[in-house]
Amino acid sequence: MEVQSPRRLNAATIPSEPRFASHLAEFIARFGDSSSAAGTPRLFFAPGRVNLMGAHLDYNGGPVMPMAIDRGTFLVLRPRRDGLVTIATSMDDEQTTFSLSVLLATKAPKAEERWWDYSVGVLLGLARCAELDPGRGFDLYYGGDLPVGAGLSSSASVSLVTAVALNAHFGLDMSVDQAIDAALFAEREFVGVMCGIMDPFAVGFASPGHLLLLNCKDRSWQHVGLDGEKYMVGIIDTLVRRKLAKGEFNLRVEQCAAAYQALAPFAPDAEHLSEVPLAVFEAHERDLDPAVAKRARHVLEETSRTFEARDALQLGDVAAFGCAMFDAHDSLRDHFEVSIDELNTIVEFAKSHDAVLGGRLTGAGFGGCVAVILKAGQQDAFAAAMCTAYEQAHGQTPKIAFYKGSPGLGEVVV
Ligand code: GLA
Repeated sequence: MEVQSPRRLNAATIPSEPRFASHLAEFIARFGDSSSAAGTPRLFFAPGRVNLMGAHLDYNGGPVMPMAIDRGTFLVLRPRRDGLVTIATSMDDEQTTFSLSVLLATKAPKAEERWWDYSVGVLLGLARCAELDPGRGFDLYYGGDLPVGAGLSSSASVSLVTAVALNAHFGLDMSVDQAIDAALFAEREFVGVMCGIMDPFAVGFASPGHLLLLNCKDRSWQHVGLDGEKYMVGIIDTLVRRKLAKGEFNLRVEQCAAAYQALAPFAPDAEHLSEVPLAVFEAHERDLDPAVAKRARHVLEETSRTFEARDALQLGDVAAFGCAMFDAHDSLRDHFEVSIDELNTIVEFAKSHDAVLGGRLTGAGFGGCVAVILKAGQQDAFAAAMCTAYEQAHGQTPKIAFYKGSPGLGEVVV
């Protein structure tokens, strides 16, 4: 894979759809034609993503294969003449207002543990590499159709849509890579989740009908097609949301770092845990803390599995790709220990259903969704059978949705 030349952030435009138009109408209804406005509202979209292969490999320098979906975050930006910034969402009435010049002049601004930390973090991330005019305040109004905290990367979607909107507002002409870095700054350094690079890449380089094959070792990527006539991606949402996920996620990152530190002296060529040869790991497995050893086994086996799955998909062998997804789930359950009963029920049922080629939990785990690949045209029968099986096991109905390829990241033509 080669490292591509920088793609500009302001290149893409997205045709309007009723869901976008109604978000804009909602903004006008809530904020009115305010006298503080210094221009017309503009509307932006960023997709969410499902990760189909390469679970928890991004922060271990391995390969990942996410796919952007057609659901995502909508953002209206309207310039203000009073130098203030207002950030609001269609999901509730809470909003924040602050002075842009004060924020930009603050030495080390602190996150407030509120949802708008992502927006503020991206603003600060962009300010690290570009001069932002402190007099050019704005209103931001978020909405969308992506479930939050479900493992569909709502945070990267919010971060990237913010970057694309602020890039347009301040006339920055940033590259997608710079926007990704601002999103990573927001998440890691401002909010404090030690995430890898997969999510903002999946959102930033989305292409309809394609997975993104990203090598997290060197950020090189390419698109790999999935035939949308024959196959579709389904998401089964357990509706379980774990509050502890941030702590558990960071613990996995630390355990992987500990494994690498212990094994690196025996694998001088390995710059990341994913590159440690399996034989080296097995020779030293017993010297590792048992939990750390399990995490390392997942990372090493998942790395080989993902490269094999990539080869299979490139040859059009979706069945082999699907089997790799099932194996990935088993490893997430047994070695990485990030699955829960509800997710396991869904995957086990999916294994038994004729229409399904593969499935696994998507995102970090600890709740959220299972992603499946299934034969197009069989989704209704599958969804009905899945609901029955899940209701019997857990007494609740999961939310099931089927996705088309994403329109990508960009400004909506209104
Ligand atoms: C979360 C993180 C990603 C990645 C996945 C697990 O979504 O944000 O960086 O580590 O978990 O594959």
